[in-house]
Amino acid sequence: MAGHSSYTPKTAIEKWLHERLPIVAFAKDHALDFPTPKNLNYWWTFGGILAVMLVVQIITGIVLVMHYTPHVDMAFNSVEQIMRDVNYGWLIRYMHANGASMFFIAVYIHMFRGMYYGSYKAPREVLWILGVVIYLIMMATAFMGYVLPWGQMSFWGAKVITNLFSAIPFFGDAITTWLWGGYAVDNPTLNRFFSLHYLLPFVLAAVIGLHLWALHVPGNNNPTGVSVKSGQDTVPFHPYYTMKDAFAIAVFFLFFAFWIFYQPNYLGHAINYEPANPLVTPAHIVPEWYYLPFYAILRAIPSKLGGVIAMFGSILILFVLPWLDTSKVRSGTYRPIFKGFFWIFAIVCVALGYLGSKPPEGAYVIWGRILTAYYFAHFIVILPLLGLLESPKPLPASISDAVLSKKSKKLAPAE
Ligand code: HEM
Repeated sequence: MAGHSSYTPKTAIEKWLHERLPIVAFAKDHALDFPTPKNLNYWWTFGGILAVMLVVQIITGIVLVMHYTPHVDMAFNSVEQIMRDVNYGWLIRYMHANGASMFFIAVYIHMFRGMYYGSYKAPREVLWILGVVIYLIMMATAFMGYVLPWGQMSFWGAKVITNLFSAIPFFGDAITTWLWGGYAVDNPTLNRFFSLHYLLPFVLAAVIGLHLWALHVPGNNNPTGVSVKSGQDTVPFHPYYTMKDAFAIAVFFLFFAFWIFYQPNYLGHAINYEPANPLVTPAHIVPEWYYLPFYAILRAIPSKLGGVIAMFGSILILFVLPWLDTSKVRSGTYRPIFKGFFWIFAIVCVALGYLGSKPPEGAYVIWGRILTAYYFAHFIVILPLLGLLESPKPLPASISDAVLSKKSKKLAPAE
């Protein structure tokens, strides 16, 4: 944040610390006083929700590790022991397993919010790119976590996904062997996945620190997409947004609690309650729901290598989104045609998710191909052209203008 801190150390101890490490001033400027646009809606609470969910995952994960054994002969039983014998072990495990799903629900809402309001556009490109890095780390972390209970889906999921790397020309087999730590998915694989699953959330925390840094340089975007005029358009983060975020986090926790206490296994697979068996392949190998759209894209392409490229490409394309969208106007609110395409894109992603859960046969494959083509067209054709062809609605002169003109319309007497 530019300018001087509003913090003045009062006591001798405060002064002593401030001269050596101005951490209290930093926290005050960035967590309490940070000038935040007045008009943020509830879609802006998901960043805070995500931060809290990361803490939940780390704490429950650390407790689980106290009772978990990362060995192929004992992993499954150690998890069952957590569920049955450890005090509140079932609660900790259900929180952690469903917490992963909640984390992804929140991150998808957070990302789609960014896409709708053009939060990835200048000057927030680095903020967005760091978000995509976070998303990739989240995907890797959740994938490795799912392998740890060493159930049937853990084992076969690990096998299918690690095998994808064998599609890489020349080095594919060597890379797969290196990933496995041997010639099959086995104890070394479980061990390294455990090690990385424990490490990556802390890497995530560090990248989130950079994400917030990159947020606090340009400041928040807002629903109008119009840049803030300092003073008149902002309020201090505390108490306005601390309260709003706290309320949203409480509501989100009710939703989270519903899954933990009423449907704790709904989002998982029943077959993962069978111990891993390398000799029996399950009838359907299906990843967790949050990977399903990408699984559909993987299977839409008839060649293995092509599928792998399309799948990774569908995520990596997000890195260049700020340059693919050529529109000068940030917020979808003022882009009538973009708005329509945004919702079509959202529906296509959900539909791809549905197709990812179905066996790769008949109409599912055809639809998988059509929607995969559309997914890429959205980024490569629709967004670049829309920016050039669409005439956006007139933008408000400022945030205050946008908010006040809405109010004055509501207050105007009926004609
Ligand atoms: C654990 C994951 C994440 C955490 C904890 C996190 C945290 C936050 C927080 C606290 C904010 C400010 C409040 C808000 O706008 O909601 C924010 C803003 C933002 N995040 Fe994230 N984020 C995460 C993942 C992501 C991902 C995966 C993306 C995109 C791929 C992303 C893109 C953005 C953007 C563009 C903004 C600016 C929003 C705006 O001002 O319009 N974030 N993030």
